[in-house]
Amino acid sequence: MALTDLLDITLAVPDPAELEAFWNRRGMATTAPGQLGTADRASQIRLIEGDYRHVDAVRVACSSQDDLVAIAGRLAAIGLSPEQGDGWLSIVDPVLSHTVRIEVATAAPLTPAPARSRNAPGILDRPDRRSEVAVRSTAPSPRRFGHVVFGSPDPKRTVDFYVDGLGFRVSDTLPEAGATFLRCSKDHHNLLVLPAPVACMNHYAVEMDDVDAVGLAGTDTVGERPDASIYGIGRHVVGSNIFWYLLDPAGGMFELFTDMDQITDDDRWDAEERRDDWDPFTIATYESGISKMDFFLPVDIDAIAAGRERAGL
Ligand SMILES: [Fe+2]
Repeated sequence: MALTDLLDITLAVPDPAELEAFWNRRGMATTAPGQLGTADRASQIRLIEGDYRHVDAVRVACSSQDDLVAIAGRLAAIGLSPEQGDGWLSIVDPVLSHTVRIEVATAAPLTPAPARSRNAPGILDRPDRRSEVAVRSTAPSPRRFGHVVFGSPDPKRTVDFYVDGLGFRVSDTLPEAGATFLRCSKDHHNLLVLPAPVACMNHYAVEMDDVDAVGLAGTDTVGERPDASIYGIGRHVVGSNIFWYLLDPAGGMFELFTDMDQITDDDRWDAEERRDDWDPFTIATYESGISKMDFFLPVDIDAIAAGRERAGL
């Protein structure tokens, strides 16, 4: 696959210092001005000031300069002209208006999640000891930025841009919901496109070590802001990931996730697993209930629409 990884996302918010401090408290370090990183990857979330909440850019890795040439050719075929330099290509999303920058780059490998002893029926793996999770006093840190979900007023054109133009692959679709799960790495999805009246971000997602890490980090967030929880903990059907959706202080929804499907053989996935007939209400195989309608559409959608209008978008 020409595309190999989702590198980072740039979020524009009115108060980037507030959002930076929020993620610092969740264990993401400031690795450069306006840049948040995880232990293995220095740049995961970049923050800039904007007068309304939106995604400014996403950065994607590809394997070679030849990949960039091929992508530029495909973009030209759909009438788009990217900026290009040595080892990179940049194009403005024609519907959603953020920049997509593709670079010849390799995402740093992730340090494996620590193994933990677990008792289970028929398995005595932790005799005479309490689980470290039960007595843990600090919440675990995110391991990496994993995906972003966009609402688009023209989902078909958006999907065509990412698939036909940039080379993302389709993992699954919910046709009646107009939802398309796209990947640029082994993750089941790095991008999900949903219909929306205005171009907007639905959520961004960071990967955690395991379900306990999701639970501990989510609980830590709710401890700081009791109304932050939107949906979770649960397990999605499409992508299989365990999730907890919460609100950040800028009003953006983020997801703590773990155990997402990984696709290493595109042909095998397409033949054996990919489905394009999911019911529109296929969301979770188990879950704790959606507490706010923010899950479907940001509550500040009018402010986002006004911001786009001010920006001439
Ligand atoms: Fe998600």
